[in-house]
Amino acid sequence: MSLSRSSRAVLVAVALVFTASAWAGAASMTDAQLVATRQAKMKEDGAILKGAKTLTGADAVAAATKILANFTAFPGLFRPSSITPDSRATTKIWENWADFTARLAEEKANAQAMLAAAKSGDKAGYLAAVDALKQPCSNCHLAYARIL
Ligand code: HEC
Repeated sequence: MSLSRSSRAVLVAVALVFTASAWAGAASMTDAQLVATRQAKMKEDGAILKGAKTLTGADAVAAATKILANFTAFPGLFRPSSITPDSRATTKIWENWADFTARLAEEKANAQAMLAAAKSGDKAGYLAAVDALKQPCSNCHLAYARIL
């Protein structure tokens, strides 16, 4: 089945509206709000991953969906120089933006694999994706955050 030109135009318009509203969300935030939001999402990822291996079915799908949404949001939540006294981010992030966002994209791909495995009930693939997600966390923190 192929989409008509007009339905393709509608899909593009819808995608643009979603992209624009996601941007407006982060763009209208103060630095303090950006820091609080990205810290909360980081913490949430950690909490979910801690118990993720025992999850199955809809719970596993929900966990993967949340982590995927968080890693999709992170690039927009690290606006240049958005560092406050509460933030543990370092300015190296914006000096090495391509590397930083590549690391986030890698985690997004791992979250997509976790979600696909959760949906298809592929237990081994699911467990492997959870392990793959856990690996890059501390590597990135060592490079870009003042976290032990
Ligand atoms: C691409 C780099 C990167 C990756 C990958 C990454 N983090 Fe982070 N993380 C950061 C940065 C930068 C901060 C500091 C944010 C701030 O304080 O402004 C942070 C902060 C945190 C914090 C502290 C939040 C707080 O309240 O201070 C936790 C917990 C955390 N990350 C968990 C994780 C987990 C779990 C993963 C892996 C699933 C992960 N992070 C992957 C860059 C990353």
